[in-house]
Amino acid sequence: MHDDLKDLLSSLAEEVAAADSVSALEAVRVETLGKKGRLTGLLKQLGALPAEERSERGAALNAVKQTLGELLEARAATLRDAEIDARLARERIDVTLPIRPEAEGRIHPISQTMDEIVAIFGQMGFSVAEGPDIEDDFHNFTALNIPPEHPARQMHDTFYLPERPEGRNLLRTHTSPVQIRTMSTRQPPIRIIAPGRTYRCDSDMTHTPMFHQVEALVVDRSTHFGHLKGAITEFVRAYFELDDVPVRLRPSFFPFTEPSAEVDIGCSRKGGELKIGSGGDWLEIMGCGMVHPNVLRASGIDPDVYQGFAFGMGIERIAMLKYGIPDLRTFYDSDLRWLRHYGFVPLDVPTTTGGLAR
Ligand code: DAH
Repeated sequence: MHDDLKDLLSSLAEEVAAADSVSALEAVRVETLGKKGRLTGLLKQLGALPAEERSERGAALNAVKQTLGELLEARAATLRDAEIDARLARERIDVTLPIRPEAEGRIHPISQTMDEIVAIFGQMGFSVAEGPDIEDDFHNFTALNIPPEHPARQMHDTFYLPERPEGRNLLRTHTSPVQIRTMSTRQPPIRIIAPGRTYRCDSDMTHTPMFHQVEALVVDRSTHFGHLKGAITEFVRAYFELDDVPVRLRPSFFPFTEPSAEVDIGCSRKGGELKIGSGGDWLEIMGCGMVHPNVLRASGIDPDVYQGFAFGMGIERIAMLKYGIPDLRTFYDSDLRWLRHYGFVPLDVPTTTGGLAR
């Protein structure tokens, strides 16, 4: 190889070694092997040489080209590795770091209670169903066996939306319309709970215009009153995390169930302090019953084949009972001091095995 090519090769090798980034290396490549590159230029000049010089010169140039190619490739690999290492070092995440010591946020007791209810019924094989907060008259009343002019409509203190040609919409006064929506879109066996917001035009010590309920509905060929009491008893024990809580069903009336009952749980009020459990006193916690044949029929389910049970429960009330929250209205004051006191840490997801609330 002629000295000029040796010099060229060694200067190119230096340039390659000096390139400290993938883009700097690419610049070296373009400058030598690109269309107007130095080496390309020399190769183009080959044609002008006499034949006897041409082959020797050509071989020498190709050797330079090949060596240069190898140098570029080796340097590129080194630079790529270095860039990956730098990124790994820069973007390192220490997954072992603890979360910020006191998480700022808190889960509201209503959300916590709903999650607990879902965990308990989930384990019993119920799934969660939903319905809209803005309901129509049919789902909120008529299909639930509450015809227009029925006195039960007055009892509901309904918030109505403005009149429209299709009829007035309303804010649902209970979660029971989800029963209708579920039954009219799927066939039994049905086993759902429907937690959610409900509204009544009512505001005092024990009522807020917006509150929460959870509805349960089970429909199958042989569902009976024993299943109803069993499911409620299971729930009450799991929710209050007590081995035994007496449950009593007291005859009552709801238009959408027949027979209907109110559910009382055992408690004690000794010394003015309320304690859930067997203490000789009773506390009402929900309404329930066997789904009225008219309700099944209104939802397209044959009452001669299927029967079901349902219940509905106020979530604020059972949250207050479990967590010792004395005043309903404080739930919606948005007072952060209250939330810090009664709220729950976000990552403590309730499960029946891991403990519902800690
Ligand atoms: N919807 C009733 C209410 O808001 C509660 C209720 C009672 C729901 C009995 C039911 C039931 O499903 O069977 O007061």
